[in-house]
Amino acid sequence: MEGKMPLIGDKFPEMEVNTTHGVKKLPAEFQGKWFILFSHPADFTPVCTTEFVAFQKRFSEFKELNTELIGLSIDQVFSHLKWEEWIEENIGEKIEFPIIADGTGDIAAVLGLIHPASSTSTVRAVFIVDPMSTIRAILYYPAELGRNIDEILRMIKGFQKADEESVAIPANWPENELIGDRVILPPASSQKKIMERKEQVEKGEIECYDWWLCHRDVKK
Ligand code: BEZ
Repeated sequence: MEGKMPLIGDKFPEMEVNTTHGVKKLPAEFQGKWFILFSHPADFTPVCTTEFVAFQKRFSEFKELNTELIGLSIDQVFSHLKWEEWIEENIGEKIEFPIIADGTGDIAAVLGLIHPASSTSTVRAVFIVDPMSTIRAILYYPAELGRNIDEILRMIKGFQKADEESVAIPANWPENELIGDRVILPPASSQKKIMERKEQVEKGEIECYDWWLCHRDVKK
């Protein structure tokens, strides 16, 4: 299954995976939904445990955003199941999302999740995949730093808003330092568009710092 590592804009590679919820075909399993595939170095490790609890605590928020979660590591299913049992018994969180058991490391190799310095464990990575199975974002984290679930939720909300309204999303949205929760219009690409922008400003439909930095309220 070795090949070119997928990049943002590529279709998520087709694969059959063995998970804690049975065998699944990706990305077909999540067709029509957003999904987040996140890899972790190993079961029964402290930072990974905090991440699993953190993802689970936001599980219903992801669901409300039509977004599914799926974990992955180079462990066997029995290890994932035992770790889930430990988390439920000791922390009181029942893990509801499936976890891929990539015992052979084949899936991790296809997704570029193995650091060359360590052939036995996956890096902390996050793939955000849209309902058309296109990879929209890939995040990488080091072993010593757990992921921020707020940011992953913000990215899903931002992508959904960008797609719905054909706009771009500013830094720290929806609490951007310049334009608050407003969104950015794509840069004007012609003299005609620049004139249109100026007319829209006069009508109060949009605001601009200049014709190349225009923003407006979200529609809904
Ligand atoms: C952890 O999840 O705690 C961890 C995993 C691999 C290396 C270091 C820390």
